[in-house]
Amino acid sequence: MPSPISTIADIGRHEGQSVTIRGWLYNLRESGKLLFPIFRDGSGTIQGVVPKSAVPPEVFDAVKGLTQESSVIVDGKVRADKRAPGGYELDVSGVKVVQRVSESDPFPISLKEHGVDFLMEHRHLWVRTPRQAAILRIRAEIIKAVRDFFDGNGFVLTDPPILTPAACEGTSTLFPVNYFDEQAYLTQSGQLYIEATAMALGKVYSFGPTFRAEKSKTRRHLTEFWMVEPEVAYATLDDLMDLAEGLISFVVKRCLEKRRADLVTTGRDIAKLENIAAPFPRITYDEAVTMLQEGHAKGAVENKFEWGGDFGSPDETYLSSQFEKPVMVHRYPAQVKAFYMEPDPQRPELALCVDVLAPEGYGEIVGGSQRMESYDLLVQRIHEHNLPEEAFKWYLDLRKYGTVPHAGFGMGIERVVGWICGLEHVRETIPFPRMLHRLYP
Ligand code: 4AD
Ligand code: MG
Repeated sequence: MPSPISTIADIGRHEGQSVTIRGWLYNLRESGKLLFPIFRDGSGTIQGVVPKSAVPPEVFDAVKGLTQESSVIVDGKVRADKRAPGGYELDVSGVKVVQRVSESDPFPISLKEHGVDFLMEHRHLWVRTPRQAAILRIRAEIIKAVRDFFDGNGFVLTDPPILTPAACEGTSTLFPVNYFDEQAYLTQSGQLYIEATAMALGKVYSFGPTFRAEKSKTRRHLTEFWMVEPEVAYATLDDLMDLAEGLISFVVKRCLEKRRADLVTTGRDIAKLENIAAPFPRITYDEAVTMLQEGHAKGAVENKFEWGGDFGSPDETYLSSQFEKPVMVHRYPAQVKAFYMEPDPQRPELALCVDVLAPEGYGEIVGGSQRMESYDLLVQRIHEHNLPEEAFKWYLDLRKYGTVPHAGFGMGIERVVGWICGLEHVRETIPFPRMLHRLYP
């Protein structure tokens, strides 16, 4: 009778039994008459044991000298071993080599260190290594948690278009597309469209790729990234902050429940994540500016920050390293924010907006606002921002036919993955990152 096929992640269910694993050879250690192959199958890795004295000669010969990333189907008996990273080892009884990688053209990513440029050039192979695979599993978990959060809280998923006729987040970062000889752009955000669906369905969200032709080369910027955007009719700025902290707490908790082993693989300090639960601190932009100026006086912030500007990456890094939880900074000057934000009735030079900055210096993960309700003010803002009124005619209709207070935010998935996994750079948070100088593979 053939042994049942198991994934490595599930192998504990078969302790003491024979199983079949289908995967690849990740590494091989040889010590004379004893071979220690490490297999991987996408769900995890497990060490096998192949003693010359205990296996048929063809099994020993198949494993001996086997090249890294050769594909293999392995039979063996599962044995608990406290010292093994996953808790189990495999006493190998049979091996079928599906494809043997040639010695003359070995797998390019050996187990020694490689430079980032080399790894990025081989991203299609780099994703096989345990740490990268762990990050991608955590990314998938985060995406599922986000969907579960909104689906479980009465939100309807509505997908906005990716080809759009106009800007949402400013004209300087638009990717142009020739749309049958008409000028079109890749979307920067689904927001304007889901404002329309929110007026139809109340609570909606969108989740998809968005594009920014950013010329910035920071560790936080991609040109193509995935954004989840909720939009809620009748919601205020305070409601929005409640929603953001609820979502973020939910996502972190889920990762701790389901992806703890993968977080360990990435080297994350898990205690810091265990701390992440609502409520989060809320500070005004004014208070944040004071913190930056005090930081400057102490020599911890290089430039003296002037009230009225937008925070740069170093400013966000400083602010977010002052808190152990994500911090919500609200009410920025309207002049540094997008055209569609509702002014603060108390101080109209401010926008009713919020940025959530992740702790440990990770910076902005969420940006959102209450939306402008007034038709006339919106037209004025569209002009002030040099946007073509014609392209926004449909959007202005929303203010003519039953306008209401409403609010929403966007959360960048790669920024969240980077923070939760504790990564230095967002390039490792997505299978195939797109950046200023990176379009291959
Ligand atoms: O702050 P942003 O630009 O806000 C919007 O696009 C709004 N229209 C969202 C809304 O209110 N519905 O972007 C939102 C989030 C940021 O906080 C950040 O997490 C992420 O998207 N983001 C990026 N992530 C990676 N690379 C980039 N170039 C990013 N630009 C924004
Ligand atoms: Mg922003």
